[in-house]
Amino acid sequence: MLSKRSQSAQLPTAGHPEESGPRHVAIIMDGNGRWAQKKGKIRTFGHKAGVESVRSVVRFARQTGIQSLTLFAFSSENWKRPEEEVSVLMELFNLVLNSEVKRLHKNGVRLKVIGDVSAFDDKLKAKIQKAETMTEQNDALILNIAANYGGRWDIANAAQLLAQQVQQGTLQPEDIDEQKLGEYISTHDLPELDLLIRTGGERRISNFLLWQCAYAELYFTDVLWPDFTEQVFQLAVDDFNVRQRRFGLVGEQVSVPQS
Ligand code: IPE
Ligand code: IPE
Ligand code: MG
Repeated sequence: MLSKRSQSAQLPTAGHPEESGPRHVAIIMDGNGRWAQKKGKIRTFGHKAGVESVRSVVRFARQTGIQSLTLFAFSSENWKRPEEEVSVLMELFNLVLNSEVKRLHKNGVRLKVIGDVSAFDDKLKAKIQKAETMTEQNDALILNIAANYGGRWDIANAAQLLAQQVQQGTLQPEDIDEQKLGEYISTHDLPELDLLIRTGGERRISNFLLWQCAYAELYFTDVLWPDFTEQVFQLAVDDFNVRQRRFGLVGEQVSVPQS
């Protein structure tokens, strides 16, 4: 039997979001290596250059009232890159935490890290923990860094947490629905994902926010990450703002009547 209200987890309101803009934006920051190679430099030069783009998207998000910004910094598959590149990326993550956290805190940004942080060394784990605790009360923007993150890991991790409760007898299997599983997904305390941007020209998700992408609007640009500016970000937001989000309904059901 079909029930009138489906069992799906809460979704944002259908229609044109132009009045409020996206509340939660995620970015696959891709193209650093190619950017560097085009300049005759080694790939890691591109990763270093990409840090400036991170600063500018954080500024843009803060100034335009985006509530949450999730950035894909390192995927669970990126460990398979050459050792030298992986170690530069880890070093860079360390350096950025050292140099940026105070400024983020001063600007009211709350920093969070999602992903399997257990794989990082103790020093890095401690630094992440410290930054998260220091900025915990801030509410100008939630900056969510996905590090050693995989969308499949996120779902499997939620399933494992629920299975533990079933084993302890505190949860019944029949009480596991989309809503319940969603409570254990790493972004459960953030608004629903509205807009996913990928730079660097590829049109794929690369195991990023698989669960959260269910009804996200996707925006792909050929701009390589170190060249990404506030202007390009604005183009993506403008494009989002004219889309009609239907969430399975028909256009007439969601269009706002003209007064
Ligand atoms: C994205 O840039 C950054 C990370 C994956 C850490 P890439 O390093 O993937 O750059 P391209 O795609 O090879 O140009
Ligand atoms: C996705 O980019 C991961 C990050 C941006 C951190 P990749 O460059 O790793 O993705 P693929 O390999 O092209 O799918
Ligand atoms: Mg890439």
